Amino acid sequence: MNDLQQQYRLEEVRKVFGRHQIALDGIDLNVQRGEKLALIGPSGAGKTTLFRLLNCTLRPTTGKLWLDDCDVESLHGKRLRAMRRQIGTIYQQHNLVQRLKVVHNVLAGQLGRWSTPRSLMSLAKPADLGLAHKALEQVGIADKIFERTDELSGGQQQRVAIARVLVQDPEVILADEPVSSVDPTLASTIVRLLIDISESTRKTLIVSLHSVDLALAYFPRVIGISHGSITFDLSPDKISEAMLEGLYAGNDREQPATEAVNEPASPIAYPSIS
Ligand SMILES: Nc1ncnc2c1ncn2[C@@H]1O[C@H](COP(=O)(O)OP(=O)(O)O)[C@@H](O)[C@H]1O
Ligand SMILES: [Mg+2]
Repeated sequence: MNDLQQQYRLEEVRKVFGRHQIALDGIDLNVQRGEKLALIGPSGAGKTTLFRLLNCTLRPTTGKLWLDDCDVESLHGKRLRAMRRQIGTIYQQHNLVQRLKVVHNVLAGQLGRWSTPRSLMSLAKPADLGLAHKALEQVGIADKIFERTDELSGGQQQRVAIARVLVQDPEVILADEPVSSVDPTLASTIVRLLIDISESTRKTLIVSLHSVDLALAYFPRVIGISHGSITFDLSPDKISEAMLEGLYAGNDREQPATEAVNEPASPIAYPSIS
């Protein structure tokens, strides 16, 4: 029997792309509701693949994944879409529609998925404006509500992406390298914002980070991933320098932080599950 407080349970999850590309190689993981955890590990370790399994846009090749006590393998169609709406994902590259006003990108959270710019714009009924305003206030940029998204800085755009997730109001927030393209001071502000949101709303928060320092400073549980496997899953005080060196052996520990450039418009639809 699963614990009622359990959000995710993964047993021996493997993901193989094509015939030989092993992205995840036997992941066992339990995440309780309201937990905050950071994933760290070198590029290519499997972090994004794990996020895609956690937000149900990919299925394991083998192994089991339960979300809210539900075996994800059994979900299709409507029930799968309903489950996905309970998960808000924030990406490194924002995935905002650049030429739309901030308000429309934020209200896209209501859809639980991306749609055409036209349908995003049709969302802005007066009642929705209040919702968008409140979310933008929470992330500290309420004054930008009617600005064009592509006129904002990288850090402001990442706040818009967070506001969109607030409007979605999911049970789980997944953030895949949300601060890799902003400067270090801003990175720590945004990570703190995510932590504050998780604490005040008791939402489960899973964040992958390039910065080991940020992971160790803000998260009570830090998971190291390399070559598709979990190498440690510990509180930060138990993580030694030797463990970190092992995790990143032969890889750069951090990428240089740069202010994000504006990405081209990239509305995404949920890919069909594979
Ligand atoms: N769609 C895909 N097709 C083939 N290989 C993939 C695909 N997605 C990821 N991979 C491979 O799986 C491994 C893990 O990738 P990824 O999960 O993106 O790692 P990370 O996010 O830690 O950098 C890498 O070797 C990558 O090339
Ligand atoms: Mg990645």
